[in-house]
Amino acid sequence: MQLSKLIQNLPPYHFADAKRKIAERKAAGVDVINLSMGDPDLPAPTAVVECLCTAMQDVENHRYPEYGGMRALHEAIAAWFEQRFAVRLTPERDILPLLGSKEGLVYAGEAVLNAGDVALVPDPYYTVYVTASTTLGAQPYFLQLTEQNGYLPDLEHIPAEIVAKARILWLNYPNNPTAACAPREFFERVVTFAQRHNIVIIHDMAYAEVYFDDFRPTSILQIPGASDVAVELHSLSKTYNMAGFRAGMLLGNHELVDAVGRIKSNVDSGMFRPIQYAAIEALHLPPSWIQQRNAMYQRRRDLLAQGCNAMGMSTHSPKAGLYVWAHVPQGFTAREFASRLFDKTGVFVTPGSNFGAAGEGYIRISITTPEARIVTALERMKAIIEI
Ligand SMILES: Cc1ncc(COP(=O)(O)O)c(C=O)c1O
Repeated sequence: MQLSKLIQNLPPYHFADAKRKIAERKAAGVDVINLSMGDPDLPAPTAVVECLCTAMQDVENHRYPEYGGMRALHEAIAAWFEQRFAVRLTPERDILPLLGSKEGLVYAGEAVLNAGDVALVPDPYYTVYVTASTTLGAQPYFLQLTEQNGYLPDLEHIPAEIVAKARILWLNYPNNPTAACAPREFFERVVTFAQRHNIVIIHDMAYAEVYFDDFRPTSILQIPGASDVAVELHSLSKTYNMAGFRAGMLLGNHELVDAVGRIKSNVDSGMFRPIQYAAIEALHLPPSWIQQRNAMYQRRRDLLAQGCNAMGMSTHSPKAGLYVWAHVPQGFTAREFASRLFDKTGVFVTPGSNFGAAGEGYIRISITTPEARIVTALERMKAIIEI
């Protein structure tokens, strides 16, 4: 069969391949410890599950849902966002529920980019930003994120001819994979930059609600004027341990929100109503639910960060997000170390180079595994470093 150029140029999604490898090793009897994905291992809140089951019993909910989501869900999202970020969104205008935030990234790209445009992509990156750009014929221009620049892109030194062709800037804080966070002043600079150069900012905030100590991640929509140039994506996947539910949201610039809604209504038929009710239930949970859950993640983060530093795989202790971003031991590339670790010990981590050239020299380790398993994984890591 003759397939399209798009599909010929589309690489397999890394984690689809990773899941297959893990299944093979497990079938061969290996005790695999998967520290590769930001897939919460803890259950969704009980009240959410009960709400979903109750809503399933109502046969009215078995019919096609509203394309753009129920009014009650828009209102629950607006109330949640205002309570968390002190920003009032207009429920019907500035909010679009999504079947997970990943699809929103792709559709936002489709709504903004044309072939030949430039897409500004911080490197390392969540790979969807690149595929969502290149499949449309746009050219990614990579902005290096390094320890030296605090993992914040240097907007001042992008060549003028690139800025002139740039239509989109992908941003993601708390960042995957580096676990870096951006201060409010950075978002202020970004909004000014986007206004000056007529660039659309897509801020992916999938990790907004996994934070530690007294730190609270900033939303770009807290910056005055941001909604003229930016949209932000949030997700219930990491926020409420609801990754399998597929519930996310696009917020901010109403023209772009409307455009993505138009694409979606031509592609899918909306979010299953019981999931919408479950999402509303989650958004009504008290902040203490998030804090208790984050306290558990914080213990895991501490174990991993201390363990890596003790082995000479230096890392900073992240203020937010689901990952520890650690240097690989000397003498290995990221991929060599990750492969050796998996082959010899069954511990599966992600090489930083999977997230772009700037990720070379690092591995990304997820904290979505119980403490006892993290301890075992660290022991196995230590053993292969010492060989
Ligand atoms: C940076 C980033 N954005 C978006 C997503 C997708 O999240 P969702 O489950 O809402 O589609 C992920 C998932 O890992 C992610 O890491």
